[in-house]
Amino acid sequence: MTTLAYSVDPPASVPADVLVLPVMEGPEPGPGVRDVRGLDLLGVYAAAKLRGKHGESLLVPNAGVDGLAAANVLLVGLGPRAEVTSDTVRRAIGKVAPQLARHASVATTLPQAAGRNAEAAVQAAVEGLLLGSYRFDRYKTAQGAEPPEKTALTRVTVIGSARWNARAMKDALARGEIVSDAVAWARDLVNTPAIDCTPDYLARQAQAMAEEAGIDCRIWSEAELKKGGFGGILGVGQGSVNPPRLIELRYRGAPAGQAPIALTGKGISFDSGGLSIKSAEGMEWMKADMGGAASILATMKAIARLKPKVNVIAAVPTAENMPGGSAIRPGDVLVHRSGKTSEVLNTDAEGRLVLADALAYLAEQKPKVILDTATLTGACMIALGEEIWGVMGNDRRLTRDLVAAGEATGEPGWELPLWKGYRKLIDSEVADIKNVGKRYGGAITAALFLAEFVGDTPWAHLDIAGPAFAEKAGDYWPKGGTGVPVRTLVHYVLSQARAPRRRAS
Ligand code: BES
Ligand code: ZN
Ligand code: MN
Repeated sequence: MTTLAYSVDPPASVPADVLVLPVMEGPEPGPGVRDVRGLDLLGVYAAAKLRGKHGESLLVPNAGVDGLAAANVLLVGLGPRAEVTSDTVRRAIGKVAPQLARHASVATTLPQAAGRNAEAAVQAAVEGLLLGSYRFDRYKTAQGAEPPEKTALTRVTVIGSARWNARAMKDALARGEIVSDAVAWARDLVNTPAIDCTPDYLARQAQAMAEEAGIDCRIWSEAELKKGGFGGILGVGQGSVNPPRLIELRYRGAPAGQAPIALTGKGISFDSGGLSIKSAEGMEWMKADMGGAASILATMKAIARLKPKVNVIAAVPTAENMPGGSAIRPGDVLVHRSGKTSEVLNTDAEGRLVLADALAYLAEQKPKVILDTATLTGACMIALGEEIWGVMGNDRRLTRDLVAAGEATGEPGWELPLWKGYRKLIDSEVADIKNVGKRYGGAITAALFLAEFVGDTPWAHLDIAGPAFAEKAGDYWPKGGTGVPVRTLVHYVLSQARAPRRRAS
Protein backbone atom coordinates (compact mmCIF):
# COMPACT_ATOMS: atom_id res chain seq x y z
CA MET A 1 0.00 0.00 0.00
CA THR A 2 1.21 3.43 -0.90
CA THR A 3 0.21 6.38 1.29
CA LEU A 4 -0.60 9.56 -0.61
CA ALA A 5 0.00 12.91 1.04
CA TYR A 6 -0.52 16.51 -0.01
CA SER A 7 1.80 19.31 1.03
CA VAL A 8 2.32 23.01 0.37
CA ASP A 9 5.66 23.18 2.16
CA PRO A 10 8.72 24.55 0.32
CA PRO A 11 9.93 21.65 -1.89
CA ALA A 12 13.48 21.67 -0.50
CA SER A 13 12.11 21.10 3.01
CA VAL A 14 10.03 18.00 2.15
CA PRO A 15 11.75 14.81 3.29
CA ALA A 16 11.84 11.99 0.72
CA ASP A 17 14.20 9.47 -0.82
CA VAL A 18 13.64 11.18 -4.15
CA LEU A 19 12.31 14.66 -4.85
CA VAL A 20 11.09 14.79 -8.46
CA LEU A 21 11.30 18.26 -10.02
CA PRO A 22 10.34 19.40 -13.52
CA VAL A 23 12.59 21.05 -16.09
CA MET A 24 11.10 22.67 -19.18
CA GLU A 25 12.75 22.76 -22.55
CA GLY A 26 15.63 25.25 -22.67
CA PRO A 27 16.48 24.03 -20.07
CA GLU A 28 14.27 26.25 -17.91
CA PRO A 29 13.72 25.57 -14.20
CA GLY A 30 10.30 24.22 -13.23
CA PRO A 31 8.56 24.73 -9.85
CA GLY A 32 10.93 23.90 -6.99
CA VAL A 33 14.20 23.82 -8.91
CA ARG A 34 15.32 27.32 -7.81
CA ASP A 35 14.06 26.54 -4.33
CA VAL A 36 17.04 24.28 -3.70
CA ARG A 37 19.81 26.66 -2.64
CA GLY A 38 23.39 25.49 -2.24
CA LEU A 39 23.16 23.37 -5.39
CA ASP A 40 22.89 24.63 -8.97
CA LEU A 41 20.45 21.95 -10.14
CA LEU A 42 19.80 23.57 -13.51
CA GLY A 43 23.56 23.94 -14.10
CA VAL A 44 24.16 20.25 -13.33
CA TYR A 45 21.32 19.30 -15.69
CA ALA A 46 22.64 21.49 -18.50
CA ALA A 47 26.21 20.24 -17.92
CA ALA A 48 24.92 16.71 -18.60
CA LYS A 49 23.88 18.06 -22.02
CA LEU A 50 20.18 17.70 -21.23
CA ARG A 51 17.70 20.27 -22.52
CA GLY A 52 14.44 19.48 -20.77
CA LYS A 53 12.92 17.41 -23.53
CA HIS A 54 10.37 14.74 -22.69
CA GLY A 55 12.19 11.67 -21.40
CA GLU A 56 15.42 13.49 -20.40
CA SER A 57 15.85 12.79 -16.70
CA LEU A 58 18.83 13.08 -14.35
CA LEU A 59 19.26 11.80 -10.79
CA VAL A 60 21.27 14.17 -8.59
CA PRO A 61 22.30 12.71 -5.20
CA ASN A 62 22.22 15.05 -2.23
CA ALA A 63 25.86 15.11 -1.16
CA GLY A 64 25.21 17.06 2.04
CA VAL A 65 23.47 20.11 0.59
CA ASP A 66 22.29 22.49 3.29
CA GLY A 67 18.52 22.93 3.46
CA LEU A 68 17.66 20.05 1.14
CA ALA A 69 15.66 17.40 2.98
CA ALA A 70 15.51 14.85 0.14
CA ALA A 71 18.23 12.22 -0.34
CA ASN A 72 18.14 12.65 -4.12
CA VAL A 73 16.64 15.00 -6.67
CA LEU A 74 15.35 13.59 -9.95
CA LEU A 75 15.11 16.25 -12.64
CA VAL A 76 12.54 15.32 -15.27
CA GLY A 77 12.16 16.97 -18.68
CA LEU A 78 8.62 18.06 -19.63
CA GLY A 79 9.25 19.58 -23.07
CA PRO A 80 8.17 23.11 -24.15
CA ARG A 81 6.63 25.13 -21.29
CA ALA A 82 3.60 26.19 -23.33
CA GLU A 83 2.71 22.59 -24.17
CA VAL A 84 2.70 21.08 -20.67
CA THR A 85 -0.66 19.48 -19.84
CA SER A 86 -1.79 17.02 -17.19
CA ASP A 87 -1.08 14.25 -19.69
CA THR A 88 2.52 15.49 -20.00
CA VAL A 89 2.80 15.12 -16.22
CA ARG A 90 1.28 11.61 -16.32
CA ARG A 91 3.67 10.51 -19.05
CA ALA A 92 6.79 12.15 -17.60
CA ILE A 93 6.43 10.70 -14.11
CA GLY A 94 5.22 7.41 -15.60
CA LYS A 95 8.42 7.05 -17.56
CA VAL A 96 10.59 7.31 -14.42
CA ALA A 97 8.15 5.37 -12.23
CA PRO A 98 9.93 1.98 -12.51
CA GLN A 99 13.09 3.68 -11.21
CA LEU A 100 11.17 5.50 -8.45
CA ALA A 101 9.45 2.29 -7.32
CA ARG A 102 12.79 1.09 -5.89
CA HIS A 103 12.63 3.90 -3.31
CA ALA A 104 10.39 4.03 -0.24
CA SER A 105 9.32 7.67 -0.49
CA VAL A 106 8.88 10.09 -3.37
CA ALA A 107 7.82 13.74 -3.40
CA THR A 108 7.10 15.88 -6.45
CA THR A 109 6.09 19.34 -7.63
CA LEU A 110 5.31 18.13 -11.16
CA PRO A 111 1.59 19.07 -11.19
CA GLN A 112 2.56 22.71 -10.58
CA ALA A 113 4.13 22.81 -14.03
CA ALA A 114 0.83 22.01 -15.75
CA GLY A 115 -0.94 25.26 -14.75
CA ARG A 116 -4.68 25.55 -15.57
CA ASN A 117 -6.41 22.46 -14.20
CA ALA A 118 -4.58 21.68 -10.96
CA GLU A 119 -6.98 18.90 -9.95
CA ALA A 120 -6.46 17.04 -13.22
CA ALA A 121 -2.68 17.48 -12.94
CA VAL A 122 -2.54 16.15 -9.37
CA GLN A 123 -4.66 13.15 -10.34
CA ALA A 124 -2.48 12.58 -13.42
CA ALA A 125 0.73 12.62 -11.36
CA VAL A 126 -0.63 9.89 -9.09
CA GLU A 127 -1.82 7.87 -12.09
CA GLY A 128 1.53 8.18 -13.86
CA LEU A 129 3.44 7.06 -10.80
CA LEU A 130 1.18 4.13 -9.89
CA LEU A 131 0.47 2.94 -13.44
CA GLY A 132 4.06 3.47 -14.56
CA SER A 133 5.30 1.09 -11.88
CA TYR A 134 2.66 -1.56 -12.73
CA ARG A 135 4.12 -5.00 -13.41
CA PHE A 136 2.50 -8.34 -14.16
CA ASP A 137 4.78 -10.91 -12.58
CA ARG A 138 2.32 -13.43 -11.15
CA TYR A 139 3.73 -16.12 -13.44
CA LYS A 140 7.40 -15.33 -12.85
CA THR A 141 9.37 -17.44 -10.39
CA ALA A 142 12.73 -17.10 -8.69
CA GLN A 143 14.05 -19.51 -11.32
CA GLY A 144 13.51 -17.11 -14.21
CA ALA A 145 15.86 -14.54 -15.71
CA GLU A 146 13.84 -11.65 -14.24
CA PRO A 147 12.48 -12.82 -10.89
CA PRO A 148 9.64 -10.68 -9.48
CA GLU A 149 10.74 -7.53 -7.67
CA LYS A 150 8.46 -5.91 -5.11
CA THR A 151 7.80 -2.19 -5.26
CA ALA A 152 9.41 -0.40 -2.32
CA LEU A 153 7.26 2.71 -2.68
CA THR A 154 5.19 3.35 0.45
CA ARG A 155 4.83 7.14 0.55
CA VAL A 156 4.11 9.69 -2.17
CA THR A 157 3.89 13.40 -1.38
CA VAL A 158 2.47 15.76 -3.99
CA ILE A 159 3.63 19.29 -3.38
CA GLY A 160 1.06 21.82 -4.53
CA SER A 161 0.77 25.57 -4.67
CA ALA A 162 -0.49 27.48 -1.61
CA ARG A 163 -3.11 29.06 -3.93
CA TRP A 164 -4.78 25.74 -4.62
CA ASN A 165 -7.76 24.38 -2.69
CA ALA A 166 -6.10 21.75 -0.49
CA ARG A 167 -9.32 19.80 0.00
CA ALA A 168 -9.95 19.52 -3.73
CA MET A 169 -6.35 18.38 -4.20
CA LYS A 170 -6.69 15.66 -1.57
CA ASP A 171 -9.80 14.43 -3.40
CA ALA A 172 -7.81 14.42 -6.65
CA LEU A 173 -5.09 12.32 -4.97
CA ALA A 174 -7.69 9.80 -3.82
CA ARG A 175 -9.28 9.73 -7.27
CA GLY A 176 -5.87 9.06 -8.81
CA GLU A 177 -5.36 6.13 -6.47
CA ILE A 178 -8.83 4.65 -7.06
CA VAL A 179 -8.62 4.99 -10.83
CA SER A 180 -5.08 3.54 -10.94
CA ASP A 181 -6.12 0.59 -8.81
CA ALA A 182 -9.02 -0.11 -11.19
CA VAL A 183 -6.81 0.24 -14.28
CA ALA A 184 -4.22 -2.12 -12.76
CA TRP A 185 -6.97 -4.68 -12.13
CA ALA A 186 -8.15 -4.42 -15.75
CA ARG A 187 -4.54 -4.95 -16.87
CA ASP A 188 -4.22 -8.00 -14.61
CA LEU A 189 -7.38 -9.54 -16.07
CA VAL A 190 -6.19 -8.93 -19.64
CA ASN A 191 -2.70 -10.26 -18.93
CA THR A 192 -3.93 -13.43 -17.21
CA PRO A 193 -3.56 -16.28 -19.72
CA ALA A 194 -6.77 -17.76 -21.13
CA ILE A 195 -5.97 -21.16 -19.60
CA ASP A 196 -6.74 -19.51 -16.24
CA CYS A 197 -8.88 -16.53 -17.29
CA THR A 198 -12.01 -18.41 -18.41
CA PRO A 199 -15.54 -16.96 -18.49
CA ASP A 200 -16.16 -18.49 -15.07
CA TYR A 201 -12.94 -16.97 -13.71
CA LEU A 202 -14.00 -13.52 -14.92
CA ALA A 203 -17.39 -14.04 -13.29
CA ARG A 204 -15.82 -15.05 -9.98
CA GLN A 205 -13.42 -12.11 -10.09
CA ALA A 206 -16.37 -9.78 -10.69
CA GLN A 207 -18.34 -11.36 -7.86
CA ALA A 208 -15.45 -10.99 -5.40
CA MET A 209 -14.99 -7.36 -6.44
CA ALA A 210 -18.72 -6.66 -6.02
CA GLU A 211 -18.78 -8.20 -2.55
CA GLU A 212 -15.79 -6.16 -1.43
CA ALA A 213 -17.08 -2.95 -3.01
CA GLY A 214 -20.66 -3.42 -1.78
CA ILE A 215 -22.49 -3.50 -5.10
CA ASP A 216 -25.00 -6.03 -6.44
CA CYS A 217 -23.83 -8.87 -8.63
CA ARG A 218 -25.67 -11.60 -10.49
CA ILE A 219 -23.89 -14.27 -12.52
CA TRP A 220 -26.08 -15.84 -15.21
CA SER A 221 -25.29 -19.55 -15.66
CA GLU A 222 -25.51 -21.31 -19.01
CA ALA A 223 -28.93 -22.74 -18.07
CA GLU A 224 -30.21 -19.27 -17.12
CA LEU A 225 -28.88 -17.82 -20.37
CA LYS A 226 -30.76 -20.53 -22.26
CA LYS A 227 -33.98 -19.70 -20.42
CA GLY A 228 -33.40 -16.00 -21.05
CA GLY A 229 -32.92 -16.40 -24.79
CA PHE A 230 -29.29 -15.26 -24.99
CA GLY A 231 -28.59 -17.17 -28.21
CA GLY A 232 -25.56 -15.10 -29.24
CA ILE A 233 -23.62 -15.68 -26.00
CA LEU A 234 -24.54 -19.38 -25.98
CA GLY A 235 -23.74 -19.84 -29.67
CA VAL A 236 -20.27 -18.34 -29.44
CA GLY A 237 -19.54 -20.29 -26.25
CA GLN A 238 -20.72 -23.70 -27.42
CA GLY A 239 -17.46 -24.79 -29.06
CA SER A 240 -15.54 -24.52 -25.79
CA VAL A 241 -15.41 -26.74 -22.71
CA ASN A 242 -15.50 -23.53 -20.64
CA PRO A 243 -19.16 -22.45 -20.51
CA PRO A 244 -20.20 -18.83 -21.11
CA ARG A 245 -21.56 -16.41 -18.51
CA LEU A 246 -23.28 -13.04 -18.25
CA ILE A 247 -22.02 -10.81 -15.45
CA GLU A 248 -24.56 -8.31 -14.18
CA LEU A 249 -23.52 -5.55 -11.77
CA ARG A 250 -25.56 -2.74 -10.26
CA TYR A 251 -24.31 0.38 -8.53
CA ARG A 252 -26.98 2.51 -6.87
CA GLY A 253 -25.89 6.08 -6.22
CA ALA A 254 -29.21 7.82 -6.94
CA PRO A 255 -32.90 7.16 -6.19
CA ALA A 256 -34.21 3.93 -7.71
CA GLY A 257 -36.46 5.83 -10.12
CA GLN A 258 -33.52 7.52 -11.85
CA ALA A 259 -32.62 5.85 -15.16
CA PRO A 260 -29.15 4.28 -15.02
CA ILE A 261 -26.11 4.58 -17.25
CA ALA A 262 -25.75 1.14 -18.84
CA LEU A 263 -22.38 -0.42 -19.66
CA THR A 264 -21.25 -3.54 -21.47
CA GLY A 265 -17.98 -4.90 -22.80
CA LYS A 266 -16.83 -7.75 -25.00
CA GLY A 267 -15.59 -10.62 -22.84
CA ILE A 268 -14.14 -13.22 -25.21
CA SER A 269 -11.69 -14.96 -22.88
CA PHE A 270 -9.89 -16.37 -25.93
CA ASP A 271 -10.63 -15.78 -29.60
CA SER A 272 -9.32 -18.62 -31.75
CA GLY A 273 -11.71 -17.48 -34.47
CA GLY A 274 -13.77 -20.64 -33.98
CA LEU A 275 -14.18 -22.75 -37.12
CA SER A 276 -13.26 -19.66 -39.18
CA ILE A 277 -9.97 -20.16 -37.42
CA LYS A 278 -7.29 -17.49 -37.13
CA SER A 279 -3.64 -17.94 -38.13
CA ALA A 280 -1.12 -18.74 -35.37
CA GLU A 281 0.12 -15.17 -35.50
CA GLY A 282 -3.41 -13.78 -35.44
CA MET A 283 -4.09 -15.69 -32.21
CA GLU A 284 -1.00 -14.57 -30.31
CA TRP A 285 -2.74 -11.82 -28.31
CA MET A 286 -6.25 -13.17 -28.32
CA LYS A 287 -6.23 -13.77 -24.57
CA ALA A 288 -6.75 -9.98 -24.58
CA ASP A 289 -10.09 -10.23 -26.39
CA MET A 290 -11.85 -9.68 -23.05
CA GLY A 291 -10.27 -6.22 -22.71
CA GLY A 292 -13.66 -4.56 -23.12
CA ALA A 293 -15.17 -6.70 -20.36
CA ALA A 294 -12.18 -6.04 -18.08
CA SER A 295 -12.51 -2.29 -18.59
CA ILE A 296 -16.20 -2.37 -17.65
CA LEU A 297 -15.62 -4.47 -14.51
CA ALA A 298 -12.81 -2.11 -13.52
CA THR A 299 -14.97 0.95 -14.20
CA MET A 300 -17.63 -0.49 -11.89
CA LYS A 301 -14.96 -1.08 -9.23
CA ALA A 302 -13.83 2.55 -9.43
CA ILE A 303 -17.43 3.85 -9.45
CA ALA A 304 -18.27 1.77 -6.38
CA ARG A 305 -15.41 3.45 -4.51
CA LEU A 306 -15.95 6.99 -5.85
CA LYS A 307 -19.69 6.90 -5.10
CA PRO A 308 -21.06 9.42 -7.64
CA LYS A 309 -24.78 10.28 -7.42
CA VAL A 310 -25.88 8.21 -10.43
CA ASN A 311 -27.15 4.70 -11.04
CA VAL A 312 -24.97 2.43 -13.18
CA ILE A 313 -25.79 -1.03 -14.46
CA ALA A 314 -23.38 -3.34 -16.28
CA ALA A 315 -24.13 -6.54 -18.20
CA VAL A 316 -20.93 -8.14 -19.43
CA PRO A 317 -21.12 -11.19 -21.73
CA THR A 318 -18.21 -13.60 -21.59
CA ALA A 319 -17.47 -16.71 -23.66
CA GLU A 320 -14.53 -18.59 -25.15
CA ASN A 321 -14.53 -18.74 -28.97
CA MET A 322 -13.20 -22.22 -29.78
CA PRO A 323 -13.58 -24.66 -32.69
CA GLY A 324 -14.67 -27.71 -30.66
CA GLY A 325 -16.91 -30.41 -32.09
CA SER A 326 -20.00 -28.61 -30.85
CA ALA A 327 -18.94 -25.22 -32.22
CA ILE A 328 -21.24 -23.07 -34.35
CA ARG A 329 -20.66 -23.36 -38.10
CA PRO A 330 -20.64 -20.75 -40.86
CA GLY A 331 -24.23 -20.62 -42.06
CA ASP A 332 -25.75 -21.23 -38.64
CA VAL A 333 -28.49 -18.89 -37.45
CA LEU A 334 -28.66 -17.63 -33.85
CA VAL A 335 -31.66 -16.12 -32.07
CA HIS A 336 -30.68 -13.17 -29.89
CA ARG A 337 -32.21 -11.91 -26.64
CA SER A 338 -34.40 -9.41 -28.52
CA GLY A 339 -35.75 -12.16 -30.80
CA LYS A 340 -33.76 -10.87 -33.77
CA THR A 341 -31.91 -13.56 -35.75
CA SER A 342 -28.39 -13.42 -37.15
CA GLU A 343 -26.71 -15.56 -39.76
CA VAL A 344 -23.15 -16.43 -38.74
CA LEU A 345 -21.09 -16.40 -41.93
CA ASN A 346 -17.78 -15.98 -40.14
CA THR A 347 -17.36 -17.42 -36.65
CA ASP A 348 -14.45 -15.00 -36.10
CA ALA A 349 -16.90 -12.07 -36.04
CA GLU A 350 -18.04 -13.30 -32.61
CA GLY A 351 -17.81 -10.16 -30.49
CA ARG A 352 -20.89 -8.58 -32.05
CA LEU A 353 -22.84 -11.82 -31.44
CA VAL A 354 -22.29 -11.79 -27.67
CA LEU A 355 -22.70 -8.00 -27.42
CA ALA A 356 -26.02 -8.13 -29.30
CA ASP A 357 -27.61 -10.07 -26.43
CA ALA A 358 -26.13 -7.80 -23.76
CA LEU A 359 -27.20 -4.64 -25.59
CA ALA A 360 -30.75 -5.97 -26.02
CA TYR A 361 -30.88 -6.88 -22.33
CA LEU A 362 -29.63 -3.43 -21.29
CA ALA A 363 -32.08 -1.65 -23.60
CA GLU A 364 -34.90 -3.46 -21.74
CA GLN A 365 -33.81 -1.69 -18.54
CA LYS A 366 -34.69 1.72 -20.08
CA PRO A 367 -31.31 3.32 -19.33
CA LYS A 368 -30.35 6.95 -20.03
CA VAL A 369 -27.53 5.81 -22.30
CA ILE A 370 -25.77 2.58 -23.23
CA LEU A 371 -21.99 2.43 -23.70
CA ASP A 372 -20.17 -0.62 -24.97
CA THR A 373 -16.47 -1.21 -25.37
CA ALA A 374 -14.90 -4.02 -27.35
CA THR A 375 -11.75 -5.27 -29.05
CA LEU A 376 -14.07 -5.65 -32.01
CA THR A 377 -12.30 -5.20 -35.34
CA GLY A 378 -8.87 -5.29 -36.93
CA ALA A 379 -10.37 -2.73 -39.32
CA CYS A 380 -10.51 -0.13 -36.53
CA MET A 381 -6.80 -0.68 -35.88
CA ILE A 382 -6.10 -0.17 -39.58
CA ALA A 383 -8.07 3.09 -39.47
CA LEU A 384 -6.76 4.61 -36.23
CA GLY A 385 -3.61 2.68 -35.26
CA GLU A 386 -2.67 1.16 -31.93
CA GLU A 387 -3.22 4.11 -29.58
CA ILE A 388 -6.58 5.54 -30.58
CA TRP A 389 -10.01 4.00 -30.03
CA GLY A 390 -12.86 4.57 -32.44
CA VAL A 391 -16.32 5.61 -31.31
CA MET A 392 -19.57 5.22 -33.21
CA GLY A 393 -23.12 5.71 -32.03
CA ASN A 394 -26.61 6.98 -32.68
CA ASP A 395 -26.25 10.21 -30.67
CA ARG A 396 -23.67 12.82 -31.65
CA ARG A 397 -23.71 14.55 -28.28
CA LEU A 398 -22.86 11.26 -26.56
CA THR A 399 -20.02 10.41 -28.95
CA ARG A 400 -18.67 13.96 -28.56
CA ASP A 401 -18.83 13.69 -24.75
CA LEU A 402 -16.83 10.46 -24.93
CA VAL A 403 -14.17 11.90 -27.22
CA ALA A 404 -13.91 14.82 -24.75
CA ALA A 405 -13.63 12.42 -21.79
CA GLY A 406 -10.85 10.58 -23.60
CA GLU A 407 -9.02 13.81 -24.28
CA ALA A 408 -9.33 14.92 -20.65
CA THR A 409 -7.86 11.65 -19.36
CA GLY A 410 -5.11 11.11 -21.92
CA GLU A 411 -6.86 8.21 -23.68
CA PRO A 412 -7.38 9.52 -27.21
CA GLY A 413 -10.43 8.46 -29.22
CA TRP A 414 -11.97 9.57 -32.50
CA GLU A 415 -15.41 9.31 -34.01
CA LEU A 416 -16.08 7.23 -37.12
CA PRO A 417 -19.40 7.57 -38.94
CA LEU A 418 -22.25 5.15 -38.28
CA TRP A 419 -23.10 5.43 -41.98
CA LYS A 420 -26.60 4.08 -42.68
CA GLY A 421 -25.68 3.58 -46.32
CA TYR A 422 -23.55 0.58 -45.30
CA ARG A 423 -26.41 -1.12 -43.50
CA LYS A 424 -27.29 -3.10 -46.64
CA LEU A 425 -23.86 -4.77 -46.45
CA ILE A 426 -25.13 -6.85 -43.52
CA ASP A 427 -28.49 -7.82 -45.04
CA SER A 428 -28.92 -11.59 -44.86
CA GLU A 429 -30.69 -13.92 -47.28
CA VAL A 430 -31.90 -16.25 -44.53
CA ALA A 431 -31.95 -14.29 -41.24
CA ASP A 432 -32.67 -10.71 -40.10
CA ILE A 433 -29.01 -9.76 -40.36
CA LYS A 434 -25.63 -11.39 -41.06
CA ASN A 435 -22.53 -11.05 -38.93
CA VAL A 436 -20.06 -9.85 -41.58
CA GLY A 437 -20.08 -7.18 -44.26
CA LYS A 438 -17.13 -6.79 -46.58
CA ARG A 439 -13.53 -6.12 -45.65
CA TYR A 440 -13.76 -2.38 -46.38
CA GLY A 441 -15.45 -0.37 -43.64
CA GLY A 442 -15.29 -3.32 -41.25
CA ALA A 443 -15.37 -1.20 -38.07
CA ILE A 444 -18.51 0.56 -39.29
CA THR A 445 -20.45 -2.54 -40.37
CA ALA A 446 -19.62 -4.11 -36.99
CA ALA A 447 -21.10 -1.05 -35.24
CA LEU A 448 -24.15 -1.11 -37.54
CA PHE A 449 -24.72 -4.72 -36.44
CA LEU A 450 -24.65 -3.64 -32.78
CA ALA A 451 -26.98 -0.70 -33.49
CA GLU A 452 -29.71 -3.21 -34.38
CA PHE A 453 -29.99 -4.20 -30.73
CA VAL A 454 -30.23 -0.89 -28.84
CA GLY A 455 -33.62 0.28 -30.11
CA ASP A 456 -33.85 4.06 -29.74
CA THR A 457 -31.70 4.24 -26.61
CA PRO A 458 -28.84 6.77 -26.97
CA TRP A 459 -25.84 4.48 -27.45
CA ALA A 460 -22.14 4.64 -28.23
CA HIS A 461 -19.69 1.88 -29.08
CA LEU A 462 -15.96 2.15 -28.41
CA ASP A 463 -13.81 -0.10 -30.60
CA ILE A 464 -10.64 -0.56 -28.52
CA ALA A 465 -8.95 -3.25 -30.65
CA GLY A 466 -5.90 -0.96 -30.94
CA PRO A 467 -5.32 0.58 -27.50
CA ALA A 468 -6.56 -2.24 -25.21
CA PHE A 469 -3.29 -4.07 -25.59
CA ALA A 470 0.23 -2.71 -26.12
CA GLU A 471 2.71 -4.69 -28.17
CA LYS A 472 5.43 -2.35 -26.90
CA ALA A 473 5.93 -0.65 -23.53
CA GLY A 474 4.97 3.04 -23.45
CA ASP A 475 5.36 5.99 -21.08
CA TYR A 476 3.29 4.51 -18.25
CA TRP A 477 2.46 1.02 -19.40
CA PRO A 478 4.49 -2.14 -19.93
CA LYS A 479 3.83 -4.48 -22.83
CA GLY A 480 0.41 -6.13 -22.41
CA GLY A 481 -3.01 -4.97 -21.22
CA THR A 482 -3.29 -1.19 -20.87
CA GLY A 483 -6.60 -0.75 -19.04
CA VAL A 484 -7.90 1.57 -21.78
CA PRO A 485 -10.64 2.96 -21.68
CA VAL A 486 -11.25 2.77 -17.89
CA ARG A 487 -10.15 6.37 -17.28
CA THR A 488 -12.41 7.66 -20.07
CA LEU A 489 -15.43 5.76 -18.76
CA VAL A 490 -14.91 6.77 -15.13
CA HIS A 491 -14.50 10.39 -16.20
CA TYR A 492 -17.70 10.19 -18.26
CA VAL A 493 -19.74 8.67 -15.42
CA LEU A 494 -18.45 11.25 -12.90
CA SER A 495 -19.27 14.08 -15.31
CA GLN A 496 -22.84 12.74 -15.63
CA ALA A 497 -23.23 12.79 -11.85
CA ARG A 498 -22.30 16.47 -11.82
CA ALA A 499 -24.25 17.52 -14.92
CA PRO A 500 -26.93 14.92 -15.60
CA ARG A 501 -27.67 14.33 -19.24
CA ARG A 502 -31.17 15.38 -20.19
CA ARG A 503 -32.90 13.13 -22.65
CA ALA A 504 -33.92 15.01 -25.78
CA SER A 505 -37.71 14.95 -26.07
N1 BES B 1 -11.03 -9.97 -31.70
C1 BES B 1 -11.02 -9.76 -33.09
C2 BES B 1 -10.57 -8.34 -33.46
C3 BES B 1 -9.14 -8.02 -33.16
C4 BES B 1 -8.15 -8.29 -34.09
C5 BES B 1 -8.79 -7.38 -31.99
C6 BES B 1 -6.84 -7.98 -33.81
C7 BES B 1 -7.48 -7.07 -31.71
C8 BES B 1 -6.50 -7.37 -32.62
C9 BES B 1 -12.41 -9.98 -33.66
O1 BES B 1 -13.18 -10.95 -33.03
C10 BES B 1 -12.24 -10.42 -35.07
O2 BES B 1 -11.73 -11.49 -35.27
N2 BES B 1 -12.66 -9.59 -36.00
C11 BES B 1 -12.55 -9.87 -37.37
C12 BES B 1 -13.88 -9.57 -38.00
C13 BES B 1 -14.04 -10.11 -39.39
C14 BES B 1 -14.07 -11.62 -39.38
C15 BES B 1 -15.32 -9.55 -39.98
C16 BES B 1 -11.47 -8.98 -37.95
O3 BES B 1 -11.33 -7.84 -37.52
O4 BES B 1 -10.72 -9.46 -38.81
ZN1 ZN C 1 -12.75 -11.29 -31.07
MN1 MN D 1 -12.86 -12.90 -33.73
